[in-house]
Amino acid sequence: MQSKCLLQMTGICKSFPGVKALDQVDFSIKRGEIHALLGENGAGKSTLMKVLSGVYKKDAGEIFIDGNSVEIHGPREAQKMGIGIIHQELNLVPELTVMENIFLGREPQKLFGFVDKDKMRKESFEILKRLGTEIQPDDIISDLSIGMQQMVEIAKALSYETRILIMDEPTAALTERESEHLFKIVRQLAASGVGIIYISHRMEELFALSDRITVMRDGAYAGTVVTKETQFDDLIKLMVGRELTERYPRKITDIGNEVLNVKGLCRGDSLRDISFSVKAGEIVGVAGLMGAGRTELARAIFGIDPLDKGTISVDKAEQRIRSCQDAIQAGIGLITEDRKHQGLVLPMSVGDNISLAVLGELSKGSFISGKRRMELIHKQIDDLKIKTPSEAQIVRNLSGGNQQKVVIAKWLSTKPRVLIMDEPTRGVDIGAKVEIYNIMNMLAASGVVILMISSELPEVLGMSDRILVMCRGRVATELAREEATQEKIMAYAAGGN
Ligand SMILES: Nc1ncnc2c1ncn2[C@@H]1O[C@H](COP(=O)(O)OP(=O)(O)OP(=O)(O)O)[C@@H](O)[C@H]1O
Ligand SMILES: [Mg+2]
Repeated sequence: MQSKCLLQMTGICKSFPGVKALDQVDFSIKRGEIHALLGENGAGKSTLMKVLSGVYKKDAGEIFIDGNSVEIHGPREAQKMGIGIIHQELNLVPELTVMENIFLGREPQKLFGFVDKDKMRKESFEILKRLGTEIQPDDIISDLSIGMQQMVEIAKALSYETRILIMDEPTAALTERESEHLFKIVRQLAASGVGIIYISHRMEELFALSDRITVMRDGAYAGTVVTKETQFDDLIKLMVGRELTERYPRKITDIGNEVLNVKGLCRGDSLRDISFSVKAGEIVGVAGLMGAGRTELARAIFGIDPLDKGTISVDKAEQRIRSCQDAIQAGIGLITEDRKHQGLVLPMSVGDNISLAVLGELSKGSFISGKRRMELIHKQIDDLKIKTPSEAQIVRNLSGGNQQKVVIAKWLSTKPRVLIMDEPTRGVDIGAKVEIYNIMNMLAASGVVILMISSELPEVLGMSDRILVMCRGRVATELAREEATQEKIMAYAAGGN
């Protein structure tokens, strides 16, 4: 055992206008340690890691590497000290290739300053192979799925001598299999002496992977525990400050008339003859593996992608849906899985984003006064407990999980009849998840139908009244709440039965 810590951070403070993001935070890791960082949305995890990786300048505090005090003036300097970070919001240039992204700003040079593409390609290939992905050095980023883009970020961090690797919610967009693979790599890296800082809201993951867990609460250090000596409930208490009674508080309500009816939906190979209906008060889960057609189904119903065939009815009336505007008119809302590209306008304020979806209505003459608009915005901020200094805050400045809550607030304000939620709690902390589930209950009780697409089986099982399992563009089966189990869902999703 080495006596000196690989990394030690003491008394770190960082404020933004109106927000004390970090207040005297202590944190340390040892060589070869996998150290998880846990805390509610907005607790300060990403900010602490941005201080360490030179993105933000700290207001106070000290950082030691191998026992020596260091000042980190910028990301490039952090990189030189061996600190690598995979950011929560991916940071790739979509138009460039994988290898260009991996070596961005430090391309290997040939004579006369030409970029040595062969060297870049060869080294990228090696790293990608080590990660076990099929991604090629010449692939263009924008052609890759989010999960694959995440792999490229990891490859990038591994492409230089990293001694401290920070992973900020690396599995949020990965499939089961990609995650498993990532864990293997993380363990290998740790075994070779790299210190790993791992941020995730997936508690099962933290227990499986980490040696120790540090908990942050409201910008302050709450405590550090040894993982294998810690119980789940104790950890939650440390994190939330109270006990969590129920993880999936589904309240079954009276079922009413049919609200959504989808019949014979077809679109190329991705959707094949899909039919189902949902009644008022129901929450229907949509399960399936990556690529099974779940997101395609959501996009088709919401008018993003045109249908080849099929009908969509709301409240027994067939709807002509050719665009998102048509879908909103028909009372359909969609909460997307990719908040950065489809859900939010990042440079706009929290308030503007929340009222964005109703602006179409506003311009059509159904006038909403400024006062009414403010009331609506404040109600959503309160109901969803969005952590923001005011409604004027730019959405980009909110923590990841709070951005997700803004996406939800935005759609709630359109008062939909049908709400499609694609991975609604991705990146959301365990307490806030329960808040979102309670809102789903409330909506269902008021007669809204909810279609919840989710890869988290406990969530699907815990919150759905009925579950559609998709496989290769079809509904493989429909399971009632009582008969559904994790095993059954997986079997149908994999194409068996
Ligand atoms: N650039 C910024 N400008 C203003 N406020 C910021 C900025 N970055 C972060 N904050 C605020 O600092 C606080 C901590 O945010 P941070 O992103 O560190 O949270 P987090 O623990 O990573 O949360 P999550 O789990 O949701 O990702 C939040 O209140 C956030 O709104
Ligand atoms: Mg964060």
